[in-house]
Amino acid sequence: MNRSISGGRRLLGKVRMPGDKSISHRALILGAMAEGTTGIEGLAPGQDVRSTWRCLLALGVPITSRGNRVTLKGLGWRGLKEPRVALDAENSGTTMRLLMGVLAGNPILTELTGDDSLRRRPMERVAQPLNLMGATITMKNGRAPVTIRGGALKGIDYVSPVASAQVKSAVLLAGLLALDKTSFTEPVLSRDHTERMLPLFGIVPEREGFKVTVTGGLYLAGAQVFVPGDASSAAFWVVAASLLQGSDLHIVEVGANPTRIGFLDVLARMGAAVRRRDTAPVKEGGEPLADLLVRPAALTAVEVAAAEVPGLIDEVPILALAASRAQGVSRFRGLSELRHKESDRLAGIAALLTAFGADARVEGDDLVVTGPCRLKAARVDSGGDHRMAMTALVAGALAEGETTVERAECVDISYPMFYEDFTRALQA
Ligand code: S3P
Repeated sequence: MNRSISGGRRLLGKVRMPGDKSISHRALILGAMAEGTTGIEGLAPGQDVRSTWRCLLALGVPITSRGNRVTLKGLGWRGLKEPRVALDAENSGTTMRLLMGVLAGNPILTELTGDDSLRRRPMERVAQPLNLMGATITMKNGRAPVTIRGGALKGIDYVSPVASAQVKSAVLLAGLLALDKTSFTEPVLSRDHTERMLPLFGIVPEREGFKVTVTGGLYLAGAQVFVPGDASSAAFWVVAASLLQGSDLHIVEVGANPTRIGFLDVLARMGAAVRRRDTAPVKEGGEPLADLLVRPAALTAVEVAAAEVPGLIDEVPILALAASRAQGVSRFRGLSELRHKESDRLAGIAALLTAFGADARVEGDDLVVTGPCRLKAARVDSGGDHRMAMTALVAGALAEGETTVERAECVDISYPMFYEDFTRALQA
C-alpha cells in the first residue's frame, strides 16, 4: 500500500503511543511459562506481538482478550504442548529468538520459521548458547527454519560477543528451565525488560555490572503486567516535532526505561527542546514512565559512540534523519548490528536520506550525515521494514512537496495506526 504525505505543517496536540512491543512479547511469554493466570493491560497492537500470540496458541496456551486487557493461562514448568505444525514467527525476530530459549527447555520437538526477512537474519547467536545448555537446535547456514529438540538443560555462564537483548532473553528464559544457575554477560547493557519483568512473576535475577544471573527450576507465578507506551514509536514523533516549526507536542505515558531512551540523550546533545516529566511509577509495570513535551529547536550535529548504540538500536534511522537537518557533520559509530535488522538498515538509511536530497554515507560500520539540508519530496520504497517506512513518512512531513512511501503497510508490525495518528496531528 502506498501512503502519501506532504510537508509544510506542524505537529500539535496530545498523543499516546501503542503499547511497547518488547515488553508485550515478554509479558505473553512469561505468562505462558507461569502457573496460573496472567493479565496484561495495554498489549502492543502490532503484527509482531500477534506473531508471538499465535505461536503460543499453537503451543497450547489459552489466550483471550477483552477491551484493553489480555488474559492467558500459563502452562507452567515445561508445560508447552508439541505443536502440530511449524510455528511461524512471520517478521518478528523477538518472537523467534525468545521462543527458541523457551522451547529449548520444553521436552518437545518444534520447527520455527518466518517470512523472507526473518529467514535472512542470524539465529546461530541464539542457538549456540542454547546448544551448550543441552538443547539440540539445528538449522542451515545459521538461518531459520530452526528445528528445536528441547529437554533437560544445564545452566551456563555465557559471555556474549554481542549486546543483544534477544540473545540475552533467550538464554535467561532457557536458564529458568535449567536445573542450576545461568549467567549472561554482555559487552554493553542491552534493554533489560526481561530482567525487570521477572520479579513480577516471582523470580529475582541477580545483577553484577553487565552480568545477570537467574536460578532455574523455580516456579513462575502468574502476574499482572501493565505495558507502557512504546519509546521507539515515540522517537518518530519527538524528532518530527523537534524539526517542524510551530509544533507543540505532548506524548503521554511513554516507557522511560534508561536502556531504551538513548535517543533522548542524543537529541539533547543536538539541542532539542524535549522536556521529560516523570509520571508516578505504575505498580505492575516494573518500568518507569514519563510524559514528553516537545517544541522545535535548531539542531547541531552529534557524535554517537558505538557503546551508545544498544540503547538506541531501533532509533538510528530517525536520528539519522534528525542529523540531516542539523548543522554540521554527524557520525554514528559501530552500526554493524543494523545490517541484521528487518532489512539492512545501515545501507537503507543512507539510501533513504539520499533519496530526499540529504548527504548521508556509510563508512565501514559508521554512518556519516552532513547537514543541514533542505529535504525534497521523494517517492521511496519501505523495503518492507516498519521503522524505515515511518522514517520515510516523517521525512515526507519535513520535505517540500508530496512524498509517497511504497509498501507502507509494514508499519503494522509495530504501530498500525501510525499514518492515521500522525497525519491527524499535522496541522497547517
Ligand atoms: C529487541 C531487541 C533488539 C531490537 C528489537 C527488539 C527485544 O534486537 O532491535 O527491535 O525486544 O529484545 P537485538 O537484541 O537483536 O539487538
